[in-house]
Amino acid sequence: MPNTVVVGTQWGDEGKGKIVDLLTAEADLVVRFQGGNNAGHTLVVEGNKFIFHLIPSGILYEGKKCLIGNGLVVDPGVLLKEMENLEQAGIHVGPERLALSEKAHIIMPYHKALDLAREAAKGKEKIGTTGRGIGPCYEDKAARVGIRAIDLTEPDTLEKKINACLKEKNFYLERFLESEALDSEGVLREALTFGEKLSPFLTDVSLELEEALKQHKNILFEGAQGTHLDIDHGTYPFVTSSNPVAGAACAGAGIGPGQLHHIVGVVKAYTTRVGAGPFVTELTDKTGDFIQERGKEFGSTTGRRRRCGWLDLVVLRDSARFNGLNSLAITKLDVLTGLETVRVCIAYAWEGQMLQSRPASLTRFAKCTPVYKALPGWQEDISGARRLEDLPAQARAYLDLIQEETNIPLSIVSVGPAREETIMIQNPFHS
Ligand code: GDP
Ligand code: IMO
Ligand code: MG
Repeated sequence: MPNTVVVGTQWGDEGKGKIVDLLTAEADLVVRFQGGNNAGHTLVVEGNKFIFHLIPSGILYEGKKCLIGNGLVVDPGVLLKEMENLEQAGIHVGPERLALSEKAHIIMPYHKALDLAREAAKGKEKIGTTGRGIGPCYEDKAARVGIRAIDLTEPDTLEKKINACLKEKNFYLERFLESEALDSEGVLREALTFGEKLSPFLTDVSLELEEALKQHKNILFEGAQGTHLDIDHGTYPFVTSSNPVAGAACAGAGIGPGQLHHIVGVVKAYTTRVGAGPFVTELTDKTGDFIQERGKEFGSTTGRRRRCGWLDLVVLRDSARFNGLNSLAITKLDVLTGLETVRVCIAYAWEGQMLQSRPASLTRFAKCTPVYKALPGWQEDISGARRLEDLPAQARAYLDLIQEETNIPLSIVSVGPAREETIMIQNPFHS
């Protein structure tokens, strides 16, 4: 059966967690390949709500292995806390269920301090990061001064690395950002404690995947963030510091491109964005408030109110290209119930031209205005729909428009947060 990658096609929070949880039923392994605890993936299973920031959303199924790939930046305290929360919910998470790549980079206290102090210093110009140290940790990775998970188990190496790093970071924190310096002994002590707790979970993810492939197991790759937060293809600089696009699953887990068979793009039936950056279809009126309230659009990680707007097919077409999408999973269609008219942006107008893709220049992007197609809305509660035929004609027309404009088939339509509130059109693992 085909290995499947689940990615977000917009600016994150598309409902990837729910889709991954759903597809885990057909998978043997679930692997995250980028990002960190800037992600917040919410699952609703048998009336219980779980939010995962680092642990792959497949963890709720017994007998499935969850892997955290080398492409992630991992805050060890957050990972241990998530494991503890699961234990408290009666779900035992031992090394047979969860493993962390030895090569994953570790978010250190100075990464968080830098993230917060920099954002504060930027004032109005801030990106609106999650403040979790994501950017500074990826910077250190690229600068070749990062701490990797394996380093936590080697006290001498770790001490040298931390001392070298802190010399520079403390100078920058104190002298440039007018913030507080960190004490290297305290940082080392905490890191070693984390290392002791995490060492049984450390693994070579690439080797584990090779073994799984030999045994013809099904692998599900769980993306975090969204394509337009991608550091290369997103609305730079209002992006995250990793590549959420599907291709990153190879580098971030240690497998070849030929092992990715089906790419599912998760598409929220409208658009949301947390943090700063241009957003062409943003609604700042009562329709925006309606969607925000109905969709309970508050960030799973920071609790911030998400900005809401109409579905943007320019964004979606770009995502289809960047990811090579094979199918779309449309989520939160139920949230649009009750609107008289629903709108979909089919192109951008910019200085008398019609643009079909997002311009690289943010100055141009900020001047683009949406060209909308309006469709009649529907009033019926659709959360009980389990087949496309159960949906009102207007909701089906909305889905048809998405399919026609992107030329990509729909695999899943989600009509509520719960596992069962789903229309499975074609399971990607069976395609
Ligand atoms: P992720 O980051 O992409 O995993 O998405 P989040 O979990 O941050 O945000 C999606 C939110 O929408 C979560 O609270 C989900 O429980 C919820 N959700 C997912 N699918 C649906 C759906 O089809 N309808 C409704 N009403 N809520 C959904
Ligand atoms: P999931 O996986 C939505 C946004 C932040 C900010 C920008 C940079 O739940 O979809 P960072 O802390 O990464 O340096 O912040 O990216 N952002 C997200 N927005 N969902 C996410 O993850 C996000 N992860 C980061 O709000 O605008
Ligand atoms: Mg989220």
